Formats: sequence, C-alpha cells, structure tokens
Amino acid sequence: MRVGGIAYRTIGVASDGRSVEFIDQTKLPHRFERLRITTLDEAAHAIASMQVRGAPLIGAMAAYGVCLALHRDASDAALEHAIATLRATRPTAVNLQWALERCRTTLQPRSTQERVDAAYALAKTLCDEDVEACAAIGRHGIALIEDAWQRAGRARAVNLLTHCNAGWLATVDWGTALAPVYLAHERGIPLHVWVDETRPRNQGAALTAWELVQHGVPHTVIADNLGGHLMQRGQVDLCIVGSDRTTQNGDVCNKIGTYLKALAAHDNRVPFYVALPHSTIDWTLEDGLREIPIEERSGEEVSHVSGQDERGQACTVRIVPEGSPVANYAFDVTPARLITGLITERGVCAASKHGLQGLYPEKFEGAPALFSF
Ligand code: MRU
Repeated sequence: MRVGGIAYRTIGVASDGRSVEFIDQTKLPHRFERLRITTLDEAAHAIASMQVRGAPLIGAMAAYGVCLALHRDASDAALEHAIATLRATRPTAVNLQWALERCRTTLQPRSTQERVDAAYALAKTLCDEDVEACAAIGRHGIALIEDAWQRAGRARAVNLLTHCNAGWLATVDWGTALAPVYLAHERGIPLHVWVDETRPRNQGAALTAWELVQHGVPHTVIADNLGGHLMQRGQVDLCIVGSDRTTQNGDVCNKIGTYLKALAAHDNRVPFYVALPHSTIDWTLEDGLREIPIEERSGEEVSHVSGQDERGQACTVRIVPEGSPVANYAFDVTPARLITGLITERGVCAASKHGLQGLYPEKFEGAPALFSF
C-alpha cells in the first residue's frame, strides 16, 4: 500500500540482503519511520513492544527473526533457541506459532550450510503468501460491501464499522478487514468507515485512521463506546473486523472490545463479518472461550495515554489516580453464533465447523464426517 504515493510493504529484507526493515508502528500516526534490525533479540523486542503488531505481521517478523538468529549461528540449538524466544513474545495470535512451526519443519531437516538461505527464502515465501491471501480476502469481501450498497439503494455511501487495526499495517500488505475496503474504494463504491479508537493502545485512532488518510478513504474516528448507538440509529451497514485466532468451530479471538461490537451488531441485525487468512485458524482448538490464551499487558497502557503535544513532542500523561488498580486484557472471544460470516482467502463461509470444512476440507481429512455435502 502507499505512503505519500510510494508503495511499501510493512516488512522485508534491507538492501544489504540480510538486515530486516519494517515500519515502526509505535511512532505512527505522527512519524513514519522504518527501522532496520540485525539480531534475534531485536526481532523479539519489535514484536513484544508492538513496533510490529497485528497477527499476520508478527508471524512474518517471527520468520525473519529466525533468519537473523541463523545468520549468526545456524546450529540446531540456535534454531530451537530462536523459536522459543520468538514464541514467548506474544501468546494470543496463532500466526506467530504457525510461522515458527513452518520454520521448524522447513529448516530442521536442512544442513547448517543450507539453513540461512533456506530461512530467508521461507520468510519471503510467508510474506508473499500473506499478500496473496489478503488480496484474495479483498476480492471475496468486496461482494459484501456491494450487497450493502445495493441494500442502501445505491443512494448513499456504505457505512462500515471496524475495530482495532486489521489494515495493511497489521499484515505484510493489503490487510484483512480493510482489504475489501481498499478494493471497494478503488472501484468507486462510495463508502465511509467508522473507526473504533480501540483503547487502550488506540490502534484504530492511530493506525487505521492513518492508513485511511493515506488512501483517501472517507472515515470518522469514534470512541469505542459509540458503535452500539450508531447501530441502533441505522448508521452502520456492516461490520468487518480481523482475528488473532479463530477456532475450528468459528469462534474468533480479536482485539478487546470486538465482542461488545458483535453483541450490538447482533441486537441490531447488522451483519458482522470477520476477515482472516488460513494462518489465523487454530485447527487444534474448538472452544475459543475456554481454550485461547488471552494476553494480559502492562497496566500502564490503561493508566496512561500517549500522544503528541501541540509542539509536536511525543508525550505520555497519566489519566488514572495513583493507587487505582487497572486490568489490561488485550483480546476477547466472540462466539461463532454472533458472527455472520468469515471472509477468508478461499471465500466467505459460515462461522462454524461446517463452514470451515467447506473451504478447508483437507484440514478435516481423517476426522469423522460432520455433514454430508
Ligand atoms: O494487539 P494487536 O494490535 O497486535 O492486535 C491486533 C488485532 O487485534 C487485529 O485486529 C488482528 O491482529 C487482525 S490483523 C489483520
């Protein structure tokens, strides 16, 4: 996607063929900066500190973190150490584990001489696959925006609500929830995006809004609490959000606050879609509520707010009294029953085992038949 008219991916190998370059998301929306790193520890820090964030992107960074580790030491022990270090950075988005598992199965059988080149080739492949998957999500998802436009009699812009940032910054390119938005915008379908600010880290206000500004997509940033009110007043035609982990039953774990939006959408009969590539599906889990580990982050993200002052200086201010305890669970689980459909790179399906089985039959091979088609 473009920044100031120039096309970028969020991550890639630098011109030296070895270091890894990525957009530092902790600086946005005020400064667009690309960082260059050369070590495993820097890659792990980038994920843990959320310089890179978003489920598909942290998977891509994990793969490059393995490259950086192997460049220094390509032994079996170094590979296992890199995988363990990167896996420990964030617990909820399954793309991280998925990417590391692909690193292990691809690289372990290789000789130490072959490993470094194979690791860089794999990381590039994972990134290219992510771009392709997100572009396909866009092509499948645009039909839902077109439907909403038809329902509005093509007389006004489609109002779409999204939560957190599931745009191109959260992936290698295109995004998941925002891929259909970008495509619809390119094709001239009038649309307007309600952008949830997404407290406490404000990925909506800082990142989604910034992306939409770059691409000229009409949008309005709203406090997280406003969505239900807008839906009651008929001002939301559909919601599309991303996912950090989706179970084989179609339960979706995404940024904290997603569940409340799904509840409000359900109550107001607003279609609620989740866009995700296959790398976000955890085929080993069924019950999202009981089985998905929910990341708990520092209370400072709640007790303090960071931004830029009127002189353009970065600053952080406390908004909670000293001594008040805070809780900071970073994700919640939206049960499948509240989800209208999953938008994947293979098409749109019901948020259910049956729906996912229709699109990914190979994942259910050997399992007892659920339904006959
Ligand atoms: O904590 P974050 O910012 O990494 O959480 C990101 C999200 O919850 C996104 O909605 C999700 O990763 C979808 S990414 C395309």
